[in-house]
Amino acid sequence: MDQASGLRQMVDKKASYMYNTNTPQKKIKRRSLTTPRIIAVTSGKGGVGKTNIVGNLAIAFRRLGKRVLILDADLGLANIDIIFGLNPQYNINHVINGEKDIAGILIKGPEDIYIIPAGSGIQELSQLTEGQKLNLLSEFDAIDDSFDIFLIDTGAGISSNVIYFNIAAVERIVVVTPEPTSITDAYALIKVMYTKHGTDTFKILVNMTKGAAEAEAVYKNLSSSVTRFLGDISLDYTGFIPRDDNFHKAVKKQQAIIQLYPETASSQSIIKIAEYLSRLSREELPDGNIKFFWKKIVASY
Ligand SMILES: Nc1ncnc2c1ncn2[C@@H]1O[C@H](COP(=O)(O)OP(=O)(O)O)[C@@H](O)[C@H]1O
Ligand SMILES: [Mg+2]
Repeated sequence: MDQASGLRQMVDKKASYMYNTNTPQKKIKRRSLTTPRIIAVTSGKGGVGKTNIVGNLAIAFRRLGKRVLILDADLGLANIDIIFGLNPQYNINHVINGEKDIAGILIKGPEDIYIIPAGSGIQELSQLTEGQKLNLLSEFDAIDDSFDIFLIDTGAGISSNVIYFNIAAVERIVVVTPEPTSITDAYALIKVMYTKHGTDTFKILVNMTKGAAEAEAVYKNLSSSVTRFLGDISLDYTGFIPRDDNFHKAVKKQQAIIQLYPETASSQSIIKIAEYLSRLSREELPDGNIKFFWKKIVASY
C-alpha cells in the first residue's frame, strides 16, 4: 500500500467515524462521485463579517446534513478558532513540514464541523520547497471524499494570499455591507480577479443591512458598476443578513449566533443562504477537488 492510500484509509476511517456515515466499503464505492463544493468567503474590505459568516454558514450546512470543513486562511484578529472558542495546538505548518498528517491537525468545532487551523502557515506558502508542497498535496488528497463543503475564510483585500485562495476555489462569495467603502473595495477585488486572472463568476452576500430592500440596492449598485466598467461578469445575488447586535454577544460568548439565537432574523437569513447554496446543482459548477485546490495554490506562488 503506498503512503497516500494508507493515509486516505486512515482519514476515511476517521471521517466516517466522525460523521457516523457509511462503512468504509460504501465510501470507496461513492468516492468518485463526491468531491466537495469549494467555496471561498472573501471581501474587499475587512470587518464586513466574513469569519462570522463562515462559522454560521458551516453550522447551517451541517444541519442540512453536509459534512463541512473550514480552512482558516485569514490571519485577522478574530479568526474562526476564537469565534468557536477553540484552541488549536497544531496547524497547517505541521503538515507542510511532515510532522503531522492531516488527521492530526484537524480540530472539531461545534456540531462536528472540522477546521484546518492555519497559523502562520498561510503566510509561508510562498516559500515552500518541492518536498513541502508534496506533503501538502498528498495529505489533502486523503480527505477529498470525507467532506461535502469546504469553506475558506480568505481574509480581505487584494493581497496575493486572498487572490490565490479566490482563484483556487470553485465558488467565491464576496461579502459587502452598505458602507460605500465596502462596495468600492468589493469592486476593486472583482476588478483585479477579472482583469488579471480572468475570474468571471462571483456570488454576492450583503451583510449588516437594514433589510431586503437596502441589500438589493447594494447589490444593484455593485452589479451596475461591474457591468458598466468591467464587462461580462456573473454576479449572483446570494442573499443578505440584517445588522444584528446579537453578533457581538455571540462573539463574546464564543458561540455562533445560529446556536445562541436560532430564532432571530439574522440566524434565519443564514439558514436561507445555506439552503440556497445547497440547491445550486453541482452540474452548474466547474470540477474541483481539495487536492486540485492546493495544487493551484502552490502553483500560484
Ligand atoms: N450582521 C451583522 N450585524 C452586526 N454585527 C455584525 C454582523 N456581522 C458581523 N458583525 C460583527 O462585525 C465584526 C466583524 O466581523 P468578522 O466576522 O470578524 O469580519 P471579517 O472576518 O470580515 O473581518 C464582528 O464584531 C462581528 O460581530
Ligand atoms: Mg475575519
